[in-house]
Amino acid sequence: MTQDIVILAAGKGSRMKSALSKVLHKVGGVAMVRRVLATANTLADSKLHLVVGHQGEQVEANCQDFSANIVWQNDPQGTGDALRRVAPFLQADGATLTLYGDVPLIRASTLEKMTSLSTSNTLVLLTISLDNPTGYGRIVRNEQGKVIAIVEQKDASESQLAIKEVNTGILLAPNNHLQGWLAALTNNNAQGEYYLTDIIAMAARDGVDIVTVNPENEAEVAGVNDRVQLAALERELQSQQAISLMQNGATLLDPSRIDIRGELITGQDVIIDVNCIFEGKVVLGTGVEVGANCHLKNCTVGDNTIIKSNTLIEESEVGEDCDIGPFARLRPGTQLANKAKIGNFVETKKARIGEGSKVNHLSYIGDTEMGANVNVGAGTITCNYDGVNKHLTQVADNVFIGSNTSLVAPVQVAEGATIAAGSTITKQVGEKQLAFARARQTNKDNWPRPTKK
Ligand code: UD1
Ligand code: CA
Repeated sequence: MTQDIVILAAGKGSRMKSALSKVLHKVGGVAMVRRVLATANTLADSKLHLVVGHQGEQVEANCQDFSANIVWQNDPQGTGDALRRVAPFLQADGATLTLYGDVPLIRASTLEKMTSLSTSNTLVLLTISLDNPTGYGRIVRNEQGKVIAIVEQKDASESQLAIKEVNTGILLAPNNHLQGWLAALTNNNAQGEYYLTDIIAMAARDGVDIVTVNPENEAEVAGVNDRVQLAALERELQSQQAISLMQNGATLLDPSRIDIRGELITGQDVIIDVNCIFEGKVVLGTGVEVGANCHLKNCTVGDNTIIKSNTLIEESEVGEDCDIGPFARLRPGTQLANKAKIGNFVETKKARIGEGSKVNHLSYIGDTEMGANVNVGAGTITCNYDGVNKHLTQVADNVFIGSNTSLVAPVQVAEGATIAAGSTITKQVGEKQLAFARARQTNKDNWPRPTKK
């Protein structure tokens, strides 16, 4: 059965106190509404509708890649009003699932459970029992236990307020009935709004089956109204992600001190020390170790590579058995072949470093193609920028570069060449040549030191 999925994101979000739309605030590095869209997208045969209003241009611009049907709800008058604006776009048959842009951790498995119960004569409600149900719509059941209505907090009687089972807001309604119910909504209630929840009593009256499903955990249905709740959901998501990493065979020295803002894929026996941040898509091979305080963004790391503490890696590919850090910075376009070593205070950018090559101390290697088994001495710099353009440095296999060398690009150093420490290399160095490019040392005998006048 085809399914319309409506994601409500028109609300004001005033408690965020932000120039950014509430639903664009991020949880786990991803805008809340994008998380919901991505989850919705995993459901089979679905058509997405995104209801925007307050700060709607921002939301629309940030969600274009999902090609959802954008429905404007200017002057929002409640959840029922929102659904009414989508009504003309709904398919004749099938069912409509309503989700919320500020309820980001809803799981596909829960939604699939709801979908599996859907028929043209069934309405599926996602409910949860809470010790403190304050603020939520209450699920009203008759003596037989059948759901007959949802009553909003502000409209509830004393006895209804005591009900602990609440409406999460997420529901799945059959389209053949939904159109009529939406058309019949009124705003005669405490808030003067069109409540989507009023369709429940209409469904009960029309003899439609109302069934309830519960989420696997409370966080799935938790909404964000302010930054305190945003931070709480962030911690919840991080803890869920940490648990799943450990269940997949990674060791986290402290699961409460890891932040994954995107997707982290780990091979077996990966060990991650405290305070590491993983952003975008990061893939760590088998046996990789990551020291404390590392920040890795959009990179892959081959098996058994060791990344020591305080290392930053971005948009880079690291081979197997490499040794990186502490305090290394691999900038975009760095490619390390297997067994390469990048040591402390070394910065690389658009650099291919060949197998077994070492840049161990205090260097900048940018716009460089380096072969295998090269040894780069401490303090070596590629001078890749002439103030206007970037130029390439090419270093062949088995080159030895003495400490404190400046390689003024464009320049080539051929196979097996040696460069004396302190050289400024501006011309090509040939195969197996030794290049000296520094002032010769002069020593003066019995040099009289200056005396104080
Ligand atoms: C709603 C439910 C309530 C449920 C609660 C769960 C109704 C009438 N009540 O109440 O039963 O327990 O959610 O959190 O549905 N929105 C729009 N357009 C509107 C109004 C709201 O897009 O005109 C969006 C908001 O941005 C928000 C969501 O819908 O994401 C919920 O709206 P909100 O006003 O917070 O509903 P509640 O009063 O919390
Ligand atoms: Ca709410």
